[in-house]
Amino acid sequence: MGDSFYPLLGNNGYDVIHYHIDLDVEPSENTIDAVTTLTAVATEDLEQFNLDFLGLEVSVVSVDGVEAEFSRDGQEMTIQPVEPLPSGAQFTVAVSYSGTPQTIEDPGVPVTLGWHSASGVIYTASQPSGAMTWYPNNNHPSDKATFTFQLTVPDSVTAAATGLLSEETSADGLTTTTWHMDDPMATYLAAVYIGDFERHEQRLADGLLIRDYVPRGSDASVRDSLAVAPEAIRFFEEILGPYPFDAYGTIVMPFPLGFALENQTLSIHGPNTIYPYVIAHEVVHQWMGDSVTADDWSQTWLHEGFAHYLSLMFFADLTGQELVAIMAEEHRELSVAGTSPPGAIEAHELFDFNTVYRRGALTLYALHTLVGDDLFFSIVRTHYDQTAGGNTNTDLFLGIVDDLAGSEAVSLVESWLYDPEMPGIVSGPTL
Ligand code: ARG
Ligand code: ZN
Repeated sequence: MGDSFYPLLGNNGYDVIHYHIDLDVEPSENTIDAVTTLTAVATEDLEQFNLDFLGLEVSVVSVDGVEAEFSRDGQEMTIQPVEPLPSGAQFTVAVSYSGTPQTIEDPGVPVTLGWHSASGVIYTASQPSGAMTWYPNNNHPSDKATFTFQLTVPDSVTAAATGLLSEETSADGLTTTTWHMDDPMATYLAAVYIGDFERHEQRLADGLLIRDYVPRGSDASVRDSLAVAPEAIRFFEEILGPYPFDAYGTIVMPFPLGFALENQTLSIHGPNTIYPYVIAHEVVHQWMGDSVTADDWSQTWLHEGFAHYLSLMFFADLTGQELVAIMAEEHRELSVAGTSPPGAIEAHELFDFNTVYRRGALTLYALHTLVGDDLFFSIVRTHYDQTAGGNTNTDLFLGIVDDLAGSEAVSLVESWLYDPEMPGIVSGPTL
């Protein structure tokens, strides 16, 4: 698809509308028996097309119910339907596969990605490239789709997925649950989790469903620490507008993780990250990252800069600290550490905390300081409203800054994003 850092991710020629992911999982063996069915529309005449899929054993592929030829080469699966697909045609591709999904290394992150099995738990963590380890897809955030997950697991474990639970049936010691994600979702934000979890459900005053999963038998303190998520949702709704999805929740693993991840409607955390700042950070991502997703992996500052800045704003409010003091300290520490420009990162810096998160947040803070509350929040809200459910990029954001605040504001943001030297903090209106 031409991503700057991941040229092999995603494929042209079609647009996926829906994924139906049907997984029978044997957790004790870490094996799956699966059928993923994509519904897509051809955007050009197609004699063949590619999906991204790595590992596992594919037994059969069919297009519109007719068995099709396929070949595999690394992460590329090429499918040749019996009849070419004319541009504009809607079609379905069903891929049957089985085996043990593998994790993968990705140059953009220091952790393994994809399907993991550890200590009796299965979880997926896919940002950016890992989704292709457990279902075939068009693995780029610029092709979002709706999803259904159908998970069959032994009765002794609980399964969960990103989206709303709509059905649960049991037979012969197996339980099948069905989950719907009716809002567009990037492939990397789809997730499944299987293990001995307790589900805790509540409705907020406006009806929003919150469902959290914690390891069975967890201390009450684990659940208690998740209570900050609804507060964060309320706080960010004031800034960004109504929460974008049908539900939110946190799933806590029974072991520490080297990250937390904003899987759509159900963020994954380890017990080592269930603190207000990180919980709020993953909540911001539901708007900035999940509902609105950068259209190229070089643009992660748009996810992480917003998540870091707005969660520091929440943290300041929660703890009664001055945002100005927190940001001054961020700037001081970064000045000592040195940074690179967040708008011009390299492939290994996707989630570099100093460059992308902290200088990304300071970029937004510099804009906030220059233009003041009213204009800043109007820029942030206009950008979100114009891109919700879709994609964004830095130029699009700068266009809105230009329209609402003018060229001086654009130059300031550009210097924070692109200058090798980090600019100084200029004091402005009291925030
Ligand atoms: N977007 C994640 C966050 O909230 C980044 C975690 C890095 N790990 C990963 N697999 N992408 O900070
Ligand atoms: Zn983040």
